[in-house]
Amino acid sequence: MNGDFTFTIIKPRAVAKGYIGPILNKIQEAGFGISSLKMIQLARPEAEAFYAVHKERPFYQSLVDFMVSGPIVVAVVQKENAVENYRKLIGATNPAEAEEGTIRKLYAESIEANAVHGSDSDENAAIEASFFFPSKDRF
Ligand code: CMP
Repeated sequence: MNGDFTFTIIKPRAVAKGYIGPILNKIQEAGFGISSLKMIQLARPEAEAFYAVHKERPFYQSLVDFMVSGPIVVAVVQKENAVENYRKLIGATNPAEAEEGTIRKLYAESIEANAVHGSDSDENAAIEASFFFPSKDRF
């Protein structure tokens, strides 16, 4: 059975442009519940650790710079088959390839400033949610 929660980030440009409300609205309209939510400023070592899987990629340093450039909103959202359903809602990583009506099509600027992050597996959803909400033992 697929998991019932996933982890998401509203990234710095989307926060700066005033899209927290519209994005949370889209998430709830799509039938997701919000079970954990906070606005934070990432420290550089935290951003480096969170994106460590991309360490060898050419965009890693730029991605870390971007993610520490301003406040972000981190959240755990719930629905059946959450990872897959949430990835459909946000659209392709590159907003130029995202379908009409998806969060990235509506609110992203570029592949780096792509408005939101969504976990790519149940395993990563659990790891990422615990990274930002370490005191919770379940979501
Ligand atoms: P995210 O879902 O947060 O996971 C990793 C991020 O790396 C991704 O969203 C993009 O913002 C970024 N990313 C992925 N591929 C590229 C790329 N080719 N160039 C720049 N940034 C990228």
